[in-house]
Amino acid sequence: MDIRSARYFLIKNEFKPIQHQALCLLPLFNFIRSFFIFIVLLSPFHIYAQDGVYKWQKPHKPLTEEQITESSPFYPSRATTDGRQLTPDMFESPEVCKGCHSEIYQQWEKSAMAYSWEDPIYQALFLRASKATDGQVDNFCIACHSPIGMTSMDASAAMIETKTDLPGVNCEVCHNITGITGNDNAAYILSPNKDKHIKLGPHTDASSPYHKTEYSDLHTRSEFCSTCHNVTHPFNSTPIERTYDEWQESAYNEQGIQCQDCHMTPGPGQSNNPGKSAIMGKERKHIYSHEFTGGNSTLHLYFNNPESAELSRAMLRSAATIEFIGLPDSLIPGELVTIKVKVANVGAGHKLPTGFPEGREVWVDFNVKTDIQPSIYRSGAVVDGHTEKGTRNFKVTLGDVNGNVVDLNVWEVDRVLSDTRIQPNGYSIVDYTFQIPKGTSGTITLYAQLNYWPFPQKIVDELLGKDKLKVDIVNMTSVSAALPIANAEQTIAMKP
Ligand code: HEC
Ligand code: HEC
Ligand code: HEC
Ligand code: HEC
Ligand code: HEC
Repeated sequence: MDIRSARYFLIKNEFKPIQHQALCLLPLFNFIRSFFIFIVLLSPFHIYAQDGVYKWQKPHKPLTEEQITESSPFYPSRATTDGRQLTPDMFESPEVCKGCHSEIYQQWEKSAMAYSWEDPIYQALFLRASKATDGQVDNFCIACHSPIGMTSMDASAAMIETKTDLPGVNCEVCHNITGITGNDNAAYILSPNKDKHIKLGPHTDASSPYHKTEYSDLHTRSEFCSTCHNVTHPFNSTPIERTYDEWQESAYNEQGIQCQDCHMTPGPGQSNNPGKSAIMGKERKHIYSHEFTGGNSTLHLYFNNPESAELSRAMLRSAATIEFIGLPDSLIPGELVTIKVKVANVGAGHKLPTGFPEGREVWVDFNVKTDIQPSIYRSGAVVDGHTEKGTRNFKVTLGDVNGNVVDLNVWEVDRVLSDTRIQPNGYSIVDYTFQIPKGTSGTITLYAQLNYWPFPQKIVDELLGKDKLKVDIVNMTSVSAALPIANAEQTIAMKP
């Protein structure tokens, strides 16, 4: 079925064209819609709707075939070019840039964005999504995972089966983005200028013997990243990934700290990186580096980049703190005790964790031991490839139209069932209630470890097959405390 011949709705996990009777109702529907838009324009809510959390709901699903062809040539993604049909020869290979920007090339080459098409987890899920929706989502996924493939190579999911290599998010994608038309679903304008080789970048005074340069304020701000780091369900508008919005609503935005300030430095806390970005380049106070380190150490290990995996772990360790709060002075055998653990997001400029919601999970692995027993209470172990039931975790849970949990088939998503992730600069307190076994003596040791994984092992096994990829569980931070067991006399004294 051709996506442009009709509008599709997601009904019970299937994409169906609107029935003819329904089409006859469109004029009425349009009238009612116009009326509501009129009311909204009049209300003070309008201001909020423009600047606040509803901004991504600007229509990216036009109503008529003409509107679709005109405004969204790569529907259902929002990507546009400057109107031209792009061809692969309009983009240069990163190898060309390597000649002069060797350091930046080496950093980018090992980044997750360089692997955005080759990523085995992406390919497996994309194939599933494409099959389940009869190819309806192809453009949608490819717009972010291979912008050049989509705009100039007519890419489709079939290219995964034929093992066609497509470029990921590379130099020519980012440095040929001339503007944006929104803040989600690939609303970038990709406009390469091969004749003049114009590269857009952060300097007003850059000059290169090979290409023209053009100053772009957009490249210095988070809005540049927003088009790909906000993912909205294209047919029902459910917010799936919201990294940009999470940042936009945070204090980091108010303080002017952009994505680039944390993700384009050599590592967490290293804000100064003086040097040159190219041979023949100017000496500068700060060079924005291109590792784009995030949390996904597993992907780096898959591609055999242990140093990048270590950078990811460092990033994760910089993100959070963990502590016990209000601990009792001693514990009483036979009695129930409640232990509180506070986890704070001190380093991530968005929720912790952020991004890919089907997978990203941070959780507390809590264990209680005595002098002789290694564990009298545990919560947060990995059982059968998942965190065990009852684990205190920080995660989004997505649901389908019937309110059932969707853990993988993201195209079926219709709503967010819960979101326990920690706000930027925010914290979360979790607690555990358990009994101290009768007859315990000596000390009780409490241990809480904060873990991260990009996806549960079970999901990887389901997508790639068992034993294909071992998920790296990262220990972000931990805390322990030893509490004395009150002796019998103290116990009696404490009970009136
Ligand atoms: C012959 C050497 C050479 C090659 C090849 C080259 N560049 Fe450059 N590039 C430079 C120099 C020199 C500068 C100026 C650096 C400075 O002033 O700090 C520069 C600057 C830039 C800037 C910053 C522009 C600005 O306004 O801030 C970008 C972006 C850029 N190059 C991208 C690329 C890309 C993408 C490629 C590959 C398609 C590439 N370059 C290939 C030499 C080169
Ligand atoms: C104050 C520093 C800071 C800012 C600002 C910031 N980040 Fe992050 N980001 C981090 C840290 C630390 C992590 C690792 C912890 C985590 O995964 O949340 C991270 C993780 C990520 C991840 C990986 C998520 C995961 O769990 O796999 C992505 C993607 C990301 N950031 C994108 C962005 C984008 C896009 C922006 C701007 C809209 C941004 N970040 C702003 C610090 C920052
Ligand atoms: C995900 C998008 C993205 C990719 C991929 C990317 N860049 Fe950049 N690059 C940027 C942004 C954004 C900046 C400006 C950061 C700022 O100033 O805040 C930048 C800055 C630069 C600069 C100027 C650095 C400085 O601080 O003086 C050069 C040169 C450059 N990029 C070259 C390249 C080359 C070469 C590649 C490929 C090997 C590449 N970029 C890949 C987004 C990207
Ligand atoms: C054209 C789309 C696009 C743009 C623009 C873009 N990204 Fe990405 N980014 C992606 C995709 C797709 C991935 C996921 C790749 C994968 O794992 O398969 C990604 C991954 C990342 C990761 C790694 C996450 C992890 O889990 O480790 C970070 C960090 C990141 N991007 C930061 C940025 C920042 C900062 C900017 C802006 C300067 C930016 N991105 C702009 C598409 C984009
Ligand atoms: C608007 C841009 C955008 C669209 C559309 C998009 N993605 Fe992504 N995708 C991203 C970004 C950004 C990340 C990285 C987020 C993070 O690190 O947590 C990502 C991460 C992923 C990951 C996790 C990869 C890993 O190794 O951790 C998978 C799988 C994935 N996407 C599949 C898909 C599929 C399938 C579709 C289409 C149904 C799709 N994406 C559509 C931007 C997009």
